[in-house]
Amino acid sequence: MTDKELLLKAIEARAFAYAPYSNHKVGAALVGKSGKIYTGCNVENAAYTPTNCAERTAIFKAVSKGEREFTAIAIVGGLGDNLSELCAPCGVCRQVLSEFCDGDLRIILGTPEKITVTTLSNILPYSFGKSDLAK
Ligand code: THU
Repeated sequence: MTDKELLLKAIEARAFAYAPYSNHKVGAALVGKSGKIYTGCNVENAAYTPTNCAERTAIFKAVSKGEREFTAIAIVGGLGDNLSELCAPCGVCRQVLSEFCDGDLRIILGTPEKITVTTLSNILPYSFGKSDLAK
């Protein structure tokens, strides 16, 4: 699957975003090492803090299906029907991604017309992870 095709999967997933409070709709498409794709959208809540981001929806779906290794994630977002030129993952989602993904995880952002590719280590340097807890 090309980066553009994965971004299109994220756009499809974004159609299910439940964002009545912020109107900022996000979609994600995560590629497992098995080749399977797990999509996610943000799911907001009237109490605000229980809100789940699109990226975490996708990763929790994947892990709950037994997949724990990933190669890439595409993320799209924006207000209402508009797609931002670049919707980067929040800090919490970066940390959750780092639990299961190596620093070379490809992160595909933007729009089908303007794609930006980066890596997890690029957007989460000096991360805290499981190796910090090893004896
Ligand atoms: N949001 C995501 O889904 N992913 C991110 O990485 C950043 C923020 C969602 C959460 C909330 O529903 C809305 O965008 C505004 O913060």
